[in-house]
Amino acid sequence: VITASPSDEVGSDHHLDLTLITTRSWLHRDARLVGSGRNALFAAAAGLLGNDGILYIPTYFCHDVTSWLERHLPVKLFNHGPFEGESDLKIGPTDVALMVEYFGDRSSLTVEGGSVVVDRTHLPWANHSYHRRPDAVAASLRKALPLPDGGIYQFADSVHPEIEINRPNFMWEDAVSETMLGMGLKAQYLRSVGPTKQDFINRIKSVERHLVDASHDLRSSDFTRAFAGQFEVDAFDRKRRSNQELLCLLTTDIDESIGLTNTPSHSMLTFRSIEHRNAARDAMIARGVYPAILWDLSSRLVPDQQRRFADTTLFLAVDHRYGPRQIERLGSVITSLTGTG
Ligand SMILES: Cc1ncc(COP(=O)(O)O)c(C=O)c1O
Repeated sequence: VITASPSDEVGSDHHLDLTLITTRSWLHRDARLVGSGRNALFAAAAGLLGNDGILYIPTYFCHDVTSWLERHLPVKLFNHGPFEGESDLKIGPTDVALMVEYFGDRSSLTVEGGSVVVDRTHLPWANHSYHRRPDAVAASLRKALPLPDGGIYQFADSVHPEIEINRPNFMWEDAVSETMLGMGLKAQYLRSVGPTKQDFINRIKSVERHLVDASHDLRSSDFTRAFAGQFEVDAFDRKRRSNQELLCLLTTDIDESIGLTNTPSHSMLTFRSIEHRNAARDAMIARGVYPAILWDLSSRLVPDQQRRFADTTLFLAVDHRYGPRQIERLGSVITSLTGTG
């Protein structure tokens, strides 16, 4: 029987860990900080779109974010997703294409015409280069770093659009304070020093609950402005890679119908069907492992191959938060999935 103590738990929102803050910054000095990833995508795209231009968003994307962007900009979907091989997109001179670095991998998309914004949310400090230099890069921060909110965007040296995104918003500040409190309580919960899951679970989601209604010109919280860059991201990458290597060693006799793949930002498990995936997810959650689904694509028309990938895959957090102790336990949880896959 594999019982979970709080310190064994893997996945879900980051807890507050001020010990990770360092004096050096990984952020480029031209990077601009805003309230969220969607604010950053908006700023980058709005700065590049010409009159009557359209923002092209790939079909494999977080559709809540697509819907939010559609409220502010003219949007069209184009067919593109992860692990699909090289593909081309032709757009008009006033249009912008969103090129997503899925799971930290280099994008396989080539865009002809218009402008290009790279979405680097899965690994905000990735440094992939492209034959055609992107006109802007944007990312959400709170998925990869222990921050309550925040997005970054940066234009290429050759473009200098006038975009002012800096409106303070007291509802947002309150939501961030609530999320920070949740992150602090989660840190205490993981150390088993008092708080329960009920104490942090709603609070930590406060920022996410406010994302949909947040304005498009929101500035980031003071906390994120102070600390967004102050993390040793190279050390984070090294730790994730060693966690991934250990996880591979520990899962050599995993059920043959389950696939384990490592990407620069995540490890992922792929199952035979959505039913097997869901059963595995429930079994993992019962043991304190919280895998993510990226993304629920059910609200829009997307190619079958992308829907199937989204429906049969689970993403595991194997990042800097975890060490051999949690990874060994994660390995035995995965190995025990034999039969559900
Ligand atoms: C790839 C990607 N880009 C952008 C965003 C938007 O980030 P935020 O939720 O901070 O607005 C998300 C969020 O789900 C995302 O997954």
